[in-house]
Amino acid sequence: MAPLAPFVEHAAKRKAKVTAVMGARTARELLFVSRVKKTGAKAEVCTDDGTAGHEGLATELAERVMGASSFDSVYACGPERMIVGVLRLTQRARVPMQASLERIMKCGIGVCDSCALDGRHVCRDGPVFGERELRAFDDLGKTRLDLCGRKTPI
Ligand code: FES
Repeated sequence: MAPLAPFVEHAAKRKAKVTAVMGARTARELLFVSRVKKTGAKAEVCTDDGTAGHEGLATELAERVMGASSFDSVYACGPERMIVGVLRLTQRARVPMQASLERIMKCGIGVCDSCALDGRHVCRDGPVFGERELRAFDDLGKTRLDLCGRKTPI
């Protein structure tokens, strides 16, 4: 939610109608719910353990939300497997999507390769990627480089 909370505030200032799907493992780990609500955006909350909102994954809640309304665009940030799930939803709904990716970053300038994803560097080429780029990634949500540079399953 760190990049998305200011994005919601920015969109709200421009009178955009925003629905934020916010997920965490437990209610205590949810971030910026009141900050998002203060903008007038609709906050849809879910937790893995059911301590707040929908019990289950953010992708499940996003599917429900997207089925109930139409959207001009979707912006996502979070675990890559969730990003892949949201990408499937937006493809099905034919809604454009952008995602901010999170990878291990050491140098931040495209030199060390720790954030590599299919020949791209998340630090330099992203971290925000559009749907065409997201769809072209073979390793998105499947593997990443660990702190030692070993390719590991996600
Ligand atoms: S963090 Fe070093 S290449 Fe991206």
